[in-house]
Formats: sequence, C-alpha cells, structure tokens
Amino acid sequence: MSKQRTLLSFFTKTPSLKSDSGPGAVASKKAESSSGEAVKENGSGPGKLRRSPPGRPRTAVSSSPFFARETKAARKQGASPRTPPSGPACDFIPGDLVWAKLEGYPWWPSLVYNHPTTKEYLRGKGKSLRIHVQFFDEPPTRGWVSVKYVKMYAGSDSKEVQRGGIYFSGKPEIQRAMVEADNAQEDSRDKRLELAVCTEPSEEEDEDEEMLVDGHSAASEEDKENNSEDENKPRKRSSLPARSACIKAKRRRIVVESDSDVESSADEFKPDQQEGSSDECSSGIDEKDISEPETEADPESPVKTSFKRKRGTAVVPAVARGVSRVSQEIQKRATTVSSGTKSKLSAFSAPETFECQSSTGATGNTSPASMWDHEKLEWLKLGKRRDAKRRKEDDVDYDQSSLYVPDEFLNKCTPGMRKWWVLKSQMFDTLIFYKVGKFYELYHMDAVKAVSELGLMYMKGTWAHSGFPEIAFGRFSDVLVQKGYKVARVEQTETPEMMEARCRTIAHPTKFDRVVRREVCRIITKGTQTYSVLDGNPSESCNKYLLCLKETASADSLGMFRTYGVCFVDTSVGKFHVGQFRDDRHCSRLRMLVAHYTPVQVLVEKGNPTLETKKVLKGCLVSAMQEALQAGSQFWDASKTLKVLAEEGYFTEGGCEGQGTAFPPVIQGMVSESDSLGLTPGEGQELALSALGACVFYLKNCLVDQELLSMANFEEYVPADMVGDGLPGSADHLVRSGQRLVLDGVTLTNLEVLRNGTTGTMEGTLLEQLDNCCTYFGKRLLKQWLCAPLCNPLAIDDRLDAIEDLMGVPDKVAEMLELLKKVPDLERLLSRIHSIGSPLKSKDHPDSRAVFYEETTYSKKKIADFLAALDGFKILQEVLQVVEVSVQGFKSKLLQQILGLKGRDTEGIFPDLSAELKRWDAAFDHQRAKNTGVITPKAGFDPDYDQALADIKETEISLQEYLEKQRKRLGCRGVVYWGTGRNRYQLEVPESVADRHVPEEYELKSTRKGFKRYWTKTIEKLLEAVNNAEERRGTALQDCMRRLFYNFDKNSKDWQAAVDCIAVLDVLLSLMHYSQSGGGPMCRPVVTFADGTQPFLELRGSRHPCILKTFLGDFIPNDVTIGRKGTDGLENDLGNHQASCLLVTGPNMGGKSTLMRQVGLLVIVAQMGCYVPAETCRFNPVDRVFTRLGASDRILSGESTFFVELSETSSILQHATQHSLVLLDELGRGTATYDGTAIASAVVKELAENTKCRTLFSTHYHSLVEDFSHSSAVSLGHMACMVENECEDPSQETITFLYKFIEGACPKSYGFNAARLANIPEEIIQRGHKKAEEFEKTTVSLRLFKEMCSLFEDPNVNLYKLQPALKKIAEI
Ligand SMILES: Nc1ncnc2c1ncn2[C@@H]1O[C@H](COP(=O)(O)OP(=O)(O)OP(=O)(O)O)[C@@H](O)[C@H]1O
Ligand SMILES: [Mg+2]
Repeated sequence: MSKQRTLLSFFTKTPSLKSDSGPGAVASKKAESSSGEAVKENGSGPGKLRRSPPGRPRTAVSSSPFFARETKAARKQGASPRTPPSGPACDFIPGDLVWAKLEGYPWWPSLVYNHPTTKEYLRGKGKSLRIHVQFFDEPPTRGWVSVKYVKMYAGSDSKEVQRGGIYFSGKPEIQRAMVEADNAQEDSRDKRLELAVCTEPSEEEDEDEEMLVDGHSAASEEDKENNSEDENKPRKRSSLPARSACIKAKRRRIVVESDSDVESSADEFKPDQQEGSSDECSSGIDEKDISEPETEADPESPVKTSFKRKRGTAVVPAVARGVSRVSQEIQKRATTVSSGTKSKLSAFSAPETFECQSSTGATGNTSPASMWDHEKLEWLKLGKRRDAKRRKEDDVDYDQSSLYVPDEFLNKCTPGMRKWWVLKSQMFDTLIFYKVGKFYELYHMDAVKAVSELGLMYMKGTWAHSGFPEIAFGRFSDVLVQKGYKVARVEQTETPEMMEARCRTIAHPTKFDRVVRREVCRIITKGTQTYSVLDGNPSESCNKYLLCLKETASADSLGMFRTYGVCFVDTSVGKFHVGQFRDDRHCSRLRMLVAHYTPVQVLVEKGNPTLETKKVLKGCLVSAMQEALQAGSQFWDASKTLKVLAEEGYFTEGGCEGQGTAFPPVIQGMVSESDSLGLTPGEGQELALSALGACVFYLKNCLVDQELLSMANFEEYVPADMVGDGLPGSADHLVRSGQRLVLDGVTLTNLEVLRNGTTGTMEGTLLEQLDNCCTYFGKRLLKQWLCAPLCNPLAIDDRLDAIEDLMGVPDKVAEMLELLKKVPDLERLLSRIHSIGSPLKSKDHPDSRAVFYEETTYSKKKIADFLAALDGFKILQEVLQVVEVSVQGFKSKLLQQILGLKGRDTEGIFPDLSAELKRWDAAFDHQRAKNTGVITPKAGFDPDYDQALADIKETEISLQEYLEKQRKRLGCRGVVYWGTGRNRYQLEVPESVADRHVPEEYELKSTRKGFKRYWTKTIEKLLEAVNNAEERRGTALQDCMRRLFYNFDKNSKDWQAAVDCIAVLDVLLSLMHYSQSGGGPMCRPVVTFADGTQPFLELRGSRHPCILKTFLGDFIPNDVTIGRKGTDGLENDLGNHQASCLLVTGPNMGGKSTLMRQVGLLVIVAQMGCYVPAETCRFNPVDRVFTRLGASDRILSGESTFFVELSETSSILQHATQHSLVLLDELGRGTATYDGTAIASAVVKELAENTKCRTLFSTHYHSLVEDFSHSSAVSLGHMACMVENECEDPSQETITFLYKFIEGACPKSYGFNAARLANIPEEIIQRGHKKAEEFEKTTVSLRLFKEMCSLFEDPNVNLYKLQPALKKIAEI
C-alpha cells in the first residue's frame, strides 16, 4: 500500500476515478444508494451540488473510520497544488438539455443523465469536473464532458444557434439532433430521462470512457501546453479507440489515482494509535510490496519471489476489519498495476535489502525479529567496526561519525540500499530519515532506534525497517532531536520523470542510474534547530545555544591562565556571539558564559580543551550534547574561517562571489588591519575566529549556514565582568561605562535566579516571580536583563521611572497587555522569513530541488507565518497608538525612546512601519494566498510579474490589430484565430476565400473541412513574444513567494528594531506587574552613588522576593544595614554600621541563609530597575554578587564538597572589589573545626579589612564571633529566637524562631533543638549533649589556661590581674 501511496505523490493531478476492478468500484457500489440522493439534492439547488458531488461516493462509505480518513485524505489531495483547488460550478442536473462539446468535436445537443453503472452524472472536481451526457445522434452515444464544455440548451431558435453564434452548425447531424432536443424540451424532466437509451456499457465502452475522461484530463493539461494535435482533424466519436496507445498510458494513471482513495491522510497518522492502524504506521512493508514489480522486471533482484508470498500474508488479522478490507482491496488493485507503472514505482521503491524479505515477518510489530539482518553483519558489530578511514574503535583518532562499509557488501546491495549505506557510512552517528515517495523511512539500526524512541512499528521482514508520512516529520524528528539524536532529512530531488529523462541522456543507463536521486537536505541537532515549516513548532520560548569553544592555556608573571575563543548562536533567531577572553584557573568566565547563555550543544576541537574546561562542560552542562570536531578539517583555524566566509559570499547581496567581501562589523573588527584582503586574523582574535569557523563548518554540515550567516547578525561577546572601560571596581567604571552587575554561574545557581536547585525548573525562582511577559521575545529579553542587571544609577532610575510612568496609566497598560498577548514570536518569524526569502538558499540548497508531497501545506504554512508576522507588526503599531498621547508626559527616557516614533518624536526609535505594512496589505490577496498556498502579486508589487503581464497584454493587442488587418486584406470578416498553446493564433480562413487568394507569406498549418489555417512570420514572432512573456509570468509566480519574502526581509532592520522596542516594553510591563504585586509593601529602591564614600546597603522591612508565605505562616520582614550608620534610628539597633562586614549568627533553622539570599536577590531586583519587596531600600550599586552558600559537590567534575567551597571562596577573594556584595554562608564547615574556623577567620579578615566589600558572613563558630567582636570592620547581628526552659537538659528546652534579624551575636546555635526537630532519637541527643558539655568544659579550660599563660608572661602580673581568671577556674 505504501508503495502505492508513495507513487501517488506524483500523480495527484489525475482526476479521481474508479475502475470496476479496483476498490473504487467497491466504494461506488456502496455509494450507489447515496448517488440517488445526490440527484435529489441536486434538484434542490445547484449551489449545494457544487460542493458535494465529487466527494459524494466516498462520503457514502464514511461509516467506516478508515474511509472517513480516506475522505479527508482525498480532500487534502484536492488541496494539493497538483490538483486544481476549485473549479467551475455545476449548474446541471439529470434530465437537463444541454449543448455539450468533446474536444475536437462541435457543440452537440445532449441530455444530462446518470452513468448506467455508477449512477452518477458527475465526476472529478474543480476544473476536472465532468458531466455525463447522451448525445442526440444516430445511434445515440454517451460520454463524460468537461463542465466547461456544457452549456444550457435554449432551443434551436436561440441567438447562439444562428449564424455567427457559437453553436451554429450547418451539419445535418446536428440539425437533426436539435430537432430531437427541441422535442424533448416540451417534456418533463422525468420523461426526458426516458430518452437516455445508452444503458449497457461494455468493457470497451468503459475503456472509452476512461479514455475520454483521461483524454480530457490530458487535454486540460494540453490546454496549458496548447497542443492542438487532437483537433487538427475532426474525427467521429467511434474513432476514439484508435487512441489506444494514449489509453494505456492514461489508464496507468487511473489505477494510481484510485490508489489515493485508500491512502491514509497524513494528518491522521497517529503513532499512538498504531495498534489500530498498523499498516498506516509506516510505509515500509507496503513500499516493499509494491516495489517488487520492479524485481519482476529486474530478474537479478532477490525480492521477486517474496512479493507474491508477502501479498498473501499481508492481511493482518489483528488489525481493524476496515483496515484489513482496505489492504485486501489494495492487493487486488496492486495486481492491476501495469508494467509501466511498475517501472515508475520502482523508481520510488524503497531500496531493497541485500538478503532480506523473508516471508515470515509479520506486518506492524514492535518486537524485533530474533536478530535483525544488520545485527548479523560482522563489520558492524561493536568492537569490530571501523570508521570511514578504517580506524578501529580504540584508535584515538577514531571518528564515530563515520563507518567503514566494505565494498563487497555494497556491491551486493540493490542500488537504492547501496545509496543508503553510502550515506550511513558518512553519518554513522545520525538517524537517516530517508524519503521514499511521501514517506520518511528508517532502516536497520536507525529503525531500531525509531521504534524504541518513537513507538513506531517495524515492518515485516528480517531487516529492521520503519517509517511515517512526510507530514509527521516535524513531530517525530523533534522528539528525537530533543533526546539528543542527530537527524538527517534525505529528500528525493528528482521525480521519476526526471529520472527517466536523465537516464535517456545516458548511453547505457545501469540499474544504479535508475534510482531517483536523493540528497541530504538537512541535519538537525539540538543546537541547530531552525523550526522551518517542515519542522515542529518550538516547544519553549527560551534561547537554545550552540556553543563552539577553543582554548589555549599559558602562563605569565601572574601564573597560569587560559584563553577561550567562543562562538555561540541561537539558530532559531540567527544571532551569533563571537569573542575571545582570558580566564582564571577556575574557568570563572566560562562558567558565567554557560550560565548566562546555557548551550544545548557544545562543539570543541578534538584534544583541545584542558581537563578543567572538560570538567566545567561536564559538570555545568549535564544535558548538553557535546561533540569533538577534527582539528583543521572541521574545527577550522582563523585564516580558513575568514577565507571561507569570504568565498561563500554569505554577506554579499544575493550571495554572489567576487563582489567584494563586506564582513559584518564585528568580524571586520577581528581581522588584521594590515591585511587589505581581510583574510588575516587580528591579534588576539585567532581563537574567536577559529570558534566561529567551527560553528560555520557545523552549520554548513547541517545545511543552515546560508540562511543563518546571511542575516549577518553578529555581536561581540565580552564577559560581563569585562564590560566597559576603566579599571574594574573603580567608580568611573561602575557608573559611566555600560557595566552590568556580574552574576556568575555559581551565584545564579545559589540564589536560584533562573532554575531551582531541587528540580532544575523555574519553580520558585526569581525569574518565575518576575516573568509576566506576554511575548516570547519579551521573555527572552527578561532573562538577559536578569542575568546582567544595570550598575549605572541613572539607567536604573530611568527604568524605575518607566515603571512609575506605566503605573500612572493603568487603563492603557491593560489595553497594551491585551494586544501584546496576541503577538506571535516575531523574532523567530523574522528569521524564518529570512530563510525562505534567502536568494542564496533558493539557488543552491538541495531543499530547492526536493520533491515534497505536502508542498501546498508547507506553502500555506509559510504564508500563514508571513501573514502572522504582518498581523503581529500591526499589533505592535496599535500598541504604540494606545500610549501615543501619553509618551510626551513620561519621565522615562527609555519609554520615550521605545514608544516614540522614529523621525516624529525627538527621542523615538520605534520605526514607522505603517507605509510598509500598507504596502504589504496591498501586495497580494492575503486570504486567497492563505487558502491556496500561492501568492499572486497585485499590480505594482513585483516588477518581473508586472512586466510579464504587460508584455502579454501588449502582444495580444498587436495580434488583434494584425487580425483586423488580415480581415481587411482578405476582405473576409469571418477570419478568426484558432488553436491553443504553442499552436495558437492560426488564421482560420474559409476555404472559399483561401482558394481565391492567399498572400504569399501565409504558411498553411492545418485544415478542417471548409477552412484552412495559416501562420505568418509576424504571427510567429508575436506568438513567440507571448510565449516568452507567459513563461516569465510563470517563473515570476513560481519564485514569487521567495522574492516577496526577500523583499520583506530587506527591511529587516526596521522589523527587528520594532520587535526590540516592544520586547523592552513587555519586560518593563512585566517588572511593573511585579512592582505592584510583590505580596506586600513594595518600594522604589534608591541606588545612589557618591564617589569616595564607603559603599553601603540599607534595607528596612525587606522580604525574600520568592518566599511570599512559609510553611508556618507569613514571611517575617527584616532590616539589614551594612557599611554605614543607619538612618531612622537603625544605628540604635545594629551598632557599628560603618563596618562593611556583617557576621550573622543564630540558631540552626533560624533564618540566616534565607536572609543572605534575600539580600542578594533584592540587590539584583533593584539593579534591574524594579521595585523591591521592602519598606525602604537604599544602597550603592553593586558590581558583582558573590555567593558561597550551602554545601554541594560536583561529583561529575570530580570536585569534592570542601574543594568546591574553597574554589568558590578563592574566586571571591580574587575578583571581589569594594563595590561587590559577598554572601558567605558558614564557610569552613566542610572540614575539621580548627581548620574551618581558621580559614573562616582569615577570609573574614581579608574581606572586612582589605577588600572592604559589603559582606554577610554567617557562622556557627562562636569563637570566630568572639575574635571579631571588637573589630571595627566587622559588625554582629543574629537571627533572634526565644528559648524557654533553658537548662542542663536540652529536652526541656523550647526554642521559638522569631526570624528577626537583630544586633549582636547569638551565644548558642541550639543544634540539639534542630536535631530534635529532625527526629534524631532522644537518647542520641542526650548522649550528644553530654559530649557537648565535655567539649565546652575542655574548650573553656583550654582558653583559661591560655589566658593564665599569657598573664604569667607579663612581667607586671599581680594578683589583682589574675583574679578574674582564677574566679573562672573556680567556676568549672
Ligand atoms: N524571615 C522569615 N520569616 C519566616 N520564615 C522564615 C524566615 N526566614 C527563614 N524562615 C524559615 O526558616 C527556615 C530555615 O531558614 P534557614 O535555612 O535560613 O535557616 P538557617 O539559619 O540558615 O539554618 P542553618 O543554620 O541550619 O543553616 C526557612 O526554610 C523558612 O521556612
Ligand atoms: Mg543556613
């Protein structure tokens, strides 16, 4: 069945017919009862009839679910471009008297009536609609006549029958027929139907009929081709069988067409319903079934014998009755396939396998045979396979993306299968979706994967084989891509006709030549998805990056360092980021990069990354695909990159080579200034360019290089901590440069900004709190803003002004939000439009040659996308109009910019799109294009198309003028043009005139009784001009969509600018929403900067942005002040506020960690320019938030808990400036208490006394607190708790957490309370408590001993001085 389906894709033009022997007959028999109804319906009004008749016979069997699908499929086919979508309506019903005309015959009085066997009087649809009539003749004859050649009969005295009218004829047979018709006119319709006497169709008649129809369908094609051969000599209808050669050819097509009736609709292909429709699930088995006629023609093929056998076993008892009936019908029909068809089928056949096709396999099973054929291949077995260069698997250079396939094996394969194996040998790591007709098929190991991952069915046989219809590609490929597979889409880039034509050009075509050409059209991976019309729609809005990375490790006076060259791109948007930067030994900047721009796929050079980098990639990017490319040939060096970029002409209009290389500015900036050719990499840019080279190589391999690079959308990547000029940490740097608040990967993770630490989802994160964006591009921008908040207080203030401005116009905001909700993902749509419009792609890309069965669906999708983009931009304009009047009154410059119209408003940068949008509205009929998938440009839009139309019109006028001249010249008004297509414009001259005198230049072309037809040189010239113009019109139309999209894309800067502006608006609206609904009092943060003063931070009544409520109740707000004497009486609470370091103590579970995270998050929110959940919030801008929170290890990167802790601390000590905010939670607890305390103490000292950055340091080391209790650089605070029954026995103690952060140190940690809450057995707690008392005693004794020793070292020691210590000793 599938093979038949496969074939159908190329014969959809053929009208839907039924042969008595095929299932069509079954269908029509079932339809008989309803066809009567059709007539009745018909009688009730022609309007109804217009829509229903062609589909009716199929509707009749729609009670079976299969046929219900079938009908849908047929309808779908009707929508295909190969079948005219709609045609002339039918205004006739049985019993009508009409003028009917067969090609080559005059108009003939006739009677409309039902076909004697099918009881239908209509066939086909659209332009192919035909009506069954009986011609009033001696004896009467009947036939199917195209609806356009049927006209109502109005009597022999009507005007058109008179001389000069279209029905005029002097023929006695027609005169006689008119008399009969006139007589019948008097009768009632029923009576007239009794005149229908042709009721016994013979076998021959049927053939005639099919031929007639077929002849007609051919004629309608010929209409286009303008072949008048049929009409040169009028023939009698009885001569029709003489065209038997034609019949044969056409009948083949009839058979094929009827196949379409049973094919399943691609839309109906539901993998999860496969149990019920196993034979729909894959083209596989049936492809093979049908392909076997080829083997009949080709005795060498091993498949021949199994063909019949399989046919006998093709009906699967398990499948639904309807389905099995259909498969029987298919088999029946398959036997009617002519040898010509067979050879066509063979061209599409799935490649036969080498030694497979045993008859034992069952159709549609998910359980594999005991051992698949490919599993028996020795050279394919694990441990024995080699790569294309015959390197063994244990070879360091083994390339797992290729496979060595022995020649002797290839030679045994059938031509098609040989091609598959050749492809497989080049892409062993890729699943090949191999197009066979309208199906994608998967073979061998790929089939095994597809069955297990997609739940597809295996087809029968001993070789693994599966498949699905073309339309399901997006869905299935996406599942595999998300799971980390590479998927190759291999298309047929030749139709069987093209293949035949190709073979004809070859002297002795071999069987290898007689296979349709197939080409890899796309390789899709996780990091290279572009969501083209064939692919599925993106499931997520977030960016998915492909990261290419190159590294060198070196040493200088400061020690070891590493340098990275990076290039990353989101292929769904087409924006490239390229850069090179130096990094520390902890790879801090690389970690930050992967945190901000999380890649889904990473490409490195084989052997290049150092161990540390590998650890980062492995540890931070657990789910990302990673691939190592060969140095040089795949991971290009910088020079090769520049060379290829220049040669491929990605950045030149139309992609032509040699037009001079105009690299985008970012790349140009990486080229050495001394090289005028621009092919030498600039200093310090080699790694960046090399990384770009790897990216280009990979995209080229995936066949998306042209569409993406030609967007020329490049941005230099500079790590967030290197942005801006001046010395990092300096005031100037912070305020004046475009510096951003640096949030590295560790901080983003620790503070749960983008993803939570438990499930890795957005739940409970800051992003979730803030993200209320309506648009996808808004969401993406918000994430960028969140990863890099502002530092410049003026910019922060401006955003806050924007939020207030928006709060001031709530009605307008509501209106804008409603509009924004309707905006599609314009950013991705722009990228898709660019890709479709790309002249480069249309020229060279194999997709431009691919034969798609669902072409119309794709065209419609492309148009729908385009129109969605236009509508989206219209909405953006409406958004602007909503606030138009308020913009001038806004305080925020940013709002004035994004909502102001460029050129009209002083600050405005939103481009005026109205003229463009109007132009596009008028460009073509949107609704029609949407429905038909074809764009016909209106006048004035497409110069090529307009020119062609004008030329056609002009030449036609010239031809009419010429005709007038000839009429005068011959003195005969009756001279007319005759002919169609390339034989058009023959001057038909009555014989009487022609015999008298004909000018010499008249060249006889054809004759008919009483007439001679001529061409002249002038006519030939003019006809050539018409033909040429029509050809140009055709070409213009064909390429019209692409050129229109290209035309649209030319304005991409404006479209993109509009999207950017609205993205900012969307994010501001989102922040505004948060500012109004943060779950309690919200305040406008005051981020100020006064140079020379010590940075401070002051929060009053502040809450955690992500914890609105806790398990136990409301979240308790807190005050935190660091670095300055508090205002509003705060100094009374917290003492020395000049200290930049705050030591936080408190009981376990008292809320220390929560408080620290809260401070970090509030700084981020405030610097994003958003209100914060606090009563007041004032601070100096922070340049970087450092965190060392919680205990975690990176087992995957081979890093222990304490190592991670110390690495993070080391990074803090290295990079923190006095403007940083450092959050250290219980540093040192990962090791022995002494070591831990010592390290903690040293770090606090460094941060508090040297770095002087704002620090929150929580600890349970009470000795540490004592050490710093008198330090002016350190202040103390603790989370308060209430202890009841504090005594010797901890079980009697009750601790109530107050979650209030107050001044001073907490004397104890009340760890036993936490132990009890955690349900540690009471006796263990008691034992522990005893131990703790002992520890305490020992510690105190030790301290006293130390005290005594030091006192005795004092030469002036006296009893008075010793007394307190002695008193303490007495106490213990
Ligand atoms: N301000 C607050 N208001 C209400 N509940 C709070 C507040 N702060 C913390 N909590 C609650 O207390 C729990 C424990 O807080 P947290 O983990 O910060 O304690 P901790 O002092 O760090 O404890 P440990 O010393 O054991 O690490 C939180 O999960 C939260 O439910
Ligand atoms: Mg804690």
